[in-house]
Amino acid sequence: MAKIQMKNAVAELDGDEMTRVLWEVIKNNLLIPFVNLKTEYYDLSINKRDETDDKITYDSAAAIRRLGVGVKCATITSNIARVKEYKLTHLTPSPNGIIRAELDGTVFRSPILVPNIHGNVSCWKKPIILGRHAYGDVYKNCEIRTQCAGKAELVFTGSDGKEIRKTIMDMKGPGIIQGIHNLDDSIENFAHCCFSYALDQHVPVWFGAKDTISKIYDGCFKEIFQTVFDTEYKDKFDKAGISYFYTLIDDAVARIMRSEGGMLWACKNYDGDVMSDMIASACGSLAMMTSVLVSPSGSYEYEASHGTVQKHYYRYLKGEKTSTNPVALIFAWTGALAKRGELDMTPELVTFAKKIEKATLAVIADGYMTGDIACIADPPAKKTLNAWDFINEIKIRIENM
Ligand SMILES: NC(=O)c1ccc[n+]([C@@H]2O[C@H](COP(=O)([O-])OP(=O)(O)OC[C@H]3O[C@@H](n4cnc5c(N)ncnc54)[C@H](O)[C@@H]3O)[C@@H](O)[C@H]2O)c1
Repeated sequence: MAKIQMKNAVAELDGDEMTRVLWEVIKNNLLIPFVNLKTEYYDLSINKRDETDDKITYDSAAAIRRLGVGVKCATITSNIARVKEYKLTHLTPSPNGIIRAELDGTVFRSPILVPNIHGNVSCWKKPIILGRHAYGDVYKNCEIRTQCAGKAELVFTGSDGKEIRKTIMDMKGPGIIQGIHNLDDSIENFAHCCFSYALDQHVPVWFGAKDTISKIYDGCFKEIFQTVFDTEYKDKFDKAGISYFYTLIDDAVARIMRSEGGMLWACKNYDGDVMSDMIASACGSLAMMTSVLVSPSGSYEYEASHGTVQKHYYRYLKGEKTSTNPVALIFAWTGALAKRGELDMTPELVTFAKKIEKATLAVIADGYMTGDIACIADPPAKKTLNAWDFINEIKIRIENM
């Protein structure tokens, strides 16, 4: 069978530990035999990022912007333990944080549904797409640990030379202080990304913040969302028969838990970080979730939303063929290839990407799956496979489709 040709490359961002191992297995079994895979490769392993002082991460973000499409493996965000473990020269910032800030995008996450994997929330009938603002707030914070009493102040020095100064707290003893920010442009982009993605997917938008407590900061998010909606999307939403709904974040959480799903839930950065894991695990497994970063300039970065599956990696290093679920990694590749095909007008690439997805879901629906979902399958799994055998089953299906 002739291999499918790609017109343009995708930026390929390799990662760490178990996901790096499976990245290679997926490429060798599900992609390279069928597609003349064109990628621009960036090694985002923790040692390479340390060695290049994160230049490789910035370069990879620039490549995604230039090529329009990227696919990213999971990567370690360093902490003190990782500095020791990988003999790093310093703590490096989160590569996802760097890429998101560079692309100023919104991350959309959606559960991958299979009929025999039932989530824990019985009223959810349709997927909940979670739109996470990927810029600013606590992910670009500035923190101080103080050792004595003192006055904490918030100071802004404008480019016009004017200063705004407010007292945060007259602190009676040692404590902690944090400064966070966001930008009107980024919030507007976030709103545009959510409203246009919702139109594309034909789902209503829900947005929740805490404007009753954070009257200026969260109040600004609420106001910008409403203005963007009223001026640019209201008519389009009316025509499409979908709606925009703002409520307090705590009310949004309560309503989501008793809804039937089927909406795009726009979340501020931290809310999105936490809530996407809640939705993923309520739907079965962190590995049954798609994740794409959409930037307002029109670039797309597909990734697995889970981490490097560290504990499986240590067992793999001891020689075990672990039952790690590769579905989210596979869907990161299929998302990127389908988008590449769509942008390049190569429908055969889009069709092939969809074929991999169908084959993957068919293997699970037939009762063959990894341990994380085998334990919740109903009817019960016929066989729990290790990641290599699971990927091989998918390959066999693709060859026979
Ligand atoms: N997108 C990313 O790049 C990303 C996201 C989160 C964490 N991380 C990094 O990953 C490393 C490990 O972090 P963690 O343990 O908190 O998160 P993790 O997602 O790797 O694991 C969390 C839990 O989910 C399970 N799990 C996750 N993915 C699975 C899969 N594909 N198959 C089976 N089980 C799966 C794990 O066994 C573990 O119990 C850390 O160094 C962290 O910095 C990276």
